[in-house]
Amino acid sequence: MTNRPLFSGWDRIVQALSAPLTTLQSLQDAIVTIRGIVHPQNPRVNDLSLRSYLSTPAYAQWCLEVLPFVQQSFLRLPTLFPEGTIPILSQGTDRTLEFTKIQCCALLSMMFFEAVPFWGGDSDRMPPFDDFSHLHAGCCPAFLESIFLYFQRMSKPAEQARLQNEKVTIHRRVLPTAETPTWGELTTPLAPAHFSPSLRIQPDGAVEADFANRYIGGGVLQGGCVQEEIMFGMSPECLVSLLVCEYMLPNEVITLRGPELVGLCEGYGRKVRCTGEAPVAPGTDWSRRLIVAMDALECYQYPAQHQYTPSLMDRELTKAYLAFAHDPTCAAIDPPDRPLTTGHWGCGAFGGHKPLKALLQVMAASQARRALQYSTFGEEPFAQALQAVVDALIEQHWTVGRLYAAIVKYGRSCDDEVPFLPWICKEAAVTVFFWSMYQFRLFLLPFFLPRQHELNVPFLIPACSSHTTCSSGYVALQLAEQCSSLLQRAIKEEQVIETKSTFADLVTAYDKKVEEIIISTVRRAFPDHGIVSEESFPVSPAEWKEWSWVVDPIDGTTNWANQNPVFAISIGLAHRAVPIMGVIALPSLREVVYAIRGRGSFYYKPETKQFTVREPSNVPQDCLLTTGIGYERGPLLQATMGYFMEQLPLCRAIRLSGSACWDNVMVATGRISGYWERRLKVWDYCAGSVIAQESGCRATRFDGRPVRLDDGAEDYIVAAPRVHDYMVRTLATHQFYLAGQPTPH
Ligand code: IPD
Ligand code: CA
Ligand code: CA
Repeated sequence: MTNRPLFSGWDRIVQALSAPLTTLQSLQDAIVTIRGIVHPQNPRVNDLSLRSYLSTPAYAQWCLEVLPFVQQSFLRLPTLFPEGTIPILSQGTDRTLEFTKIQCCALLSMMFFEAVPFWGGDSDRMPPFDDFSHLHAGCCPAFLESIFLYFQRMSKPAEQARLQNEKVTIHRRVLPTAETPTWGELTTPLAPAHFSPSLRIQPDGAVEADFANRYIGGGVLQGGCVQEEIMFGMSPECLVSLLVCEYMLPNEVITLRGPELVGLCEGYGRKVRCTGEAPVAPGTDWSRRLIVAMDALECYQYPAQHQYTPSLMDRELTKAYLAFAHDPTCAAIDPPDRPLTTGHWGCGAFGGHKPLKALLQVMAASQARRALQYSTFGEEPFAQALQAVVDALIEQHWTVGRLYAAIVKYGRSCDDEVPFLPWICKEAAVTVFFWSMYQFRLFLLPFFLPRQHELNVPFLIPACSSHTTCSSGYVALQLAEQCSSLLQRAIKEEQVIETKSTFADLVTAYDKKVEEIIISTVRRAFPDHGIVSEESFPVSPAEWKEWSWVVDPIDGTTNWANQNPVFAISIGLAHRAVPIMGVIALPSLREVVYAIRGRGSFYYKPETKQFTVREPSNVPQDCLLTTGIGYERGPLLQATMGYFMEQLPLCRAIRLSGSACWDNVMVATGRISGYWERRLKVWDYCAGSVIAQESGCRATRFDGRPVRLDDGAEDYIVAAPRVHDYMVRTLATHQFYLAGQPTPH
């Protein structure tokens, strides 16, 4: 059995917390000190957001009234955990852990003070983020608000007795191989299920399905905010599971019993907002609340048709079966008639095909003898179609095994003509009802077609890591990192160089290689999206797709070809030709930065940290400017040099890096005050413009118009706001330059 330590540098922590904390400043200082003690190798904290949240009067009051309680709760850890450790729910072992609510509160206080010691075991198996540092840094304010409400509720004197007695239990359930059903052979009849667009997965008497990441909690502590994260964020006691659960294997689920709902929220993804404390009805018995965490297959890795292959279906069926099976350790509160509410499990970021996932869950529930309530989350016709199909199959006495065989057959038939649900009906000869519906397939088709990967920009987690929910941002970050490591190694090699439009316009073997890696992965994960990329798809489309990736595999190729370290990898995403997400790696600095519209700009490497614009004190005297000359050797060069010569005596200096993406990052992170260039391609600024704007800079055309990728313009300027005003104003006097004309003599 593995245990994780709870106290690292405890005496020094106690000393640091010897005085009561009642102000924001004292809290901030305490976190910085404690982080330095517990994580000396990673002591920095980003205090920006904590400051902005807590500086409102309501939170000043919170600091005064509730913070001392959180401090005391944390300091009570040694009394509550005299062994000095907590056990881990290791993979492969069916086991339950029980914590009193007072213990949960102490553990959550430890997470709040960012004082969770490294657990000491195989670091890949535990969620990598187990304290609230990213929440403090501004990831998903709704969750931090719910945590404040949680501590507020727990601090009330009237609650203390309850906290001593009530418990949260966490059960890792493991299905032995011998008990795994052979799905194709089952003769269990399909059982009725109830489909409705208006059901909600919430504490209302039914068991709640958690569409989990295999690392329980998914991105809840790193800014992810979809179903699982919202569930955990609004019921903070669920977060204790992140301290004790290794990631789930395919034959495992995790049941949480007893966590209470604290926060109310509205919205989804990045729009999620905490709207206040959830009312608690008198007599509410939280010990009856059961949540079952079930992680779905990450289907985006497979072509849609593969989802019907037996091995992948078996994986999902077995997982859902275990999740739905009544938990013998909770028999008293989980009688045979207790229903479970589920829905589109693994159909968002993970790319599962909704009708298939619905039928697989019906099969699993039939085998597990669990009454199933299925929410289609507002999709009324889809609920009706599913209800009709399942009812018809039941009427025809279909068994789990028969439906399994039919689905496998569909997968093999490659019948693109008939979508999945109509095909199943055809198999069952359920013609009367269904074929009449199928006549209206134009109306119904969207619900039946395999749904390709949905874009999940809003779900990007500011601190993505390799195991977190897949999203476009996640894919882009992984690619940027992978290609950055490749180029860090390859820069030492003699480069294989070819020329393009002129002897000075280069492409190297690594431009092509990096591009191939990026494009092939993006294609697989997002088959519906467009791609514009410098070497292979260099032409901006006449009509931009709903979503398009815009890639410069190596920006600064001339530098790269000379083994000069100033180059970048740029991956952008545009929504209807408007840049919306950007990831840029600067391999030689080992930096990766990224941004999503509306979510701020972050360093991903060397560590997750938000950054904001830096304004020089005096404009233009204190400005460090930069421009690019690109491949222009004609009259436009004179024009660029005209503005250059005019500004040079007025500002601190002007530099030329040779990489537009690099320059964008330098401006966004405050290392350069402003950058302009007359002739850029979309891949030179798509990603960078989002990163710069999200950090508070302005990125526009020379005349201040917003950047769109479909406006045919090639001029671009990015700068801190006051510098931007200045540059737009001064560039306006260079009419010839704006028009791309040579300087008049
Ligand atoms: C070039 C660089 C350069 C800029 C040029 C770009 P590439 O991109 O970003 O700094 O001045 O306009 O074309 O060809 O190295 O990817
Ligand atoms: Ca390039
Ligand atoms: Ca470029």
